[in-house]
Amino acid sequence: MARPAAGMTRCADDKWPSGLPARSAEVISAAGQPVRNAEVIKLPPMNDLAGKHILLGLTGGIACYKSAELCRGLVKEGATVQVVMTAASEQFITPVTMQALSMRPVYSSQWDAREANNMPHINLSRQADAILIAPCSADFMARLVHGAADELLSLMCLARPIDRVPLLIAPAMNREMWAHPATQRNMRQLAADGATILGVGSGFQACGETGDGRMLEPHELLEDLVAFFQPKLLAGRKVVITAGPTFEALDPIRGITNHSSGKMGFAIARAARAAGADVALIAGPVSLATPRGVRRLDVQSARDMLAATQAEVPQADVFIASAAVADWRPLTHSDQKIKKDASGAPTVAFAENPDILATVARSERAQSGKLFCVGFAAESHDLVKHAKAKRERKGIPLLVGNIGPLTFGQDDNQMLLVDAQGVVELPRASKAECARQLIAEIARRMTP
Ligand SMILES: Cc1cc2nc3c(=O)[nH]c(=O)nc-3n(C[C@H](O)[C@H](O)[C@H](O)COP(=O)(O)O)c2cc1C
Repeated sequence: MARPAAGMTRCADDKWPSGLPARSAEVISAAGQPVRNAEVIKLPPMNDLAGKHILLGLTGGIACYKSAELCRGLVKEGATVQVVMTAASEQFITPVTMQALSMRPVYSSQWDAREANNMPHINLSRQADAILIAPCSADFMARLVHGAADELLSLMCLARPIDRVPLLIAPAMNREMWAHPATQRNMRQLAADGATILGVGSGFQACGETGDGRMLEPHELLEDLVAFFQPKLLAGRKVVITAGPTFEALDPIRGITNHSSGKMGFAIARAARAAGADVALIAGPVSLATPRGVRRLDVQSARDMLAATQAEVPQADVFIASAAVADWRPLTHSDQKIKKDASGAPTVAFAENPDILATVARSERAQSGKLFCVGFAAESHDLVKHAKAKRERKGIPLLVGNIGPLTFGQDDNQMLLVDAQGVVELPRASKAECARQLIAEIARRMTP
């Protein structure tokens, strides 16, 4: 294996996790066995925007009420936030609210004498890692297109160092305003001038009409912003990911399944998209929101998952099998609920399910290196031994091992990377961070 990246440690065959796991010394016994009911130490809050300084611009629209939550979300993710408001936006939300949430005085006038040089448009724009206008009114888009500079926010956008401070726009307006050729033309021009248009949502609008033009929800804008800052390690690549459990029906009411929340696979899909990949996420039955910009295909059984995977992988560069696929399914399926009666418990015979990862790994594209295959092993004990054996059995270049009971349903994980050169342990981290590290490890191993 290539030299471990910073923060990773090589791992002896018989010792995993090495050192003190971040969750608690009691969670793993000396023999590497998970211990039930152990006290779990909470990890610090996720901070995907740590170190980023975001200039949040508000313009005149009803969606200003969402900007308060957006501001809170940015701060929670570790960003520092400087709010700048147009006069019209102050009709919708007060600077008091935005100051309290951002913990900084709000700016709204280019004549603000708080700055020693009286040039907030210069000073604020040079401190920012990005300017995010949310909501962005139709009027403000038009003004940006023309390089207007008659009030602080537009002046600041014009005066920003264009190569260093990206401008992201979250439009928000009535559906007719959004669909108007003038707005659409302005949007195209702004994109041509280098701005990133984050798109709009669709649905019920404050005016009572229904259609396109709503501002994206705060959590969607946050996801887009976090993705925006990620290096585009998989630009131009197609990635197929399986996630969650499969469900093997016995009758319309019952079936067997595996323990899996799907959180790890969904985090990987999110990280792959943030890295610039075109992502297809094949999901078993889970109740998780689809990551932004990811194409999701919902399936139930292992055989459904195999069919969906086989349809997707011929165009893919990477296949990541993170789903917990049920090894067996009931041999027979009853169309009606099997009733409990005096005859006692039914005997259920099982058939073996197809091995999705092994099937894909045997394909000509995987064998020739055109399709990079990654597997997952969730074990309860002897992780290093089982993970190494599974990688060899499946014939894949990279396998991720984790302790099942310490990851199921959690928001954090600790992963072990196994390849032909050996075993590397990644530090315990949020699943979002684990996913980003895995994507970086995959990108590092792929042929250009
Ligand atoms: C109640 C009300 C709601 C409005 N909502 C929006 C809106 O959602 N989007 C929009 O582009 N304009 C909306 N407008 C119009 C803008 O506030 C108006 O164009 C204003 O001049 C924008 O100024 P600004 O771009 O400097 O913030 C609304 C106006 C009113 C009176």
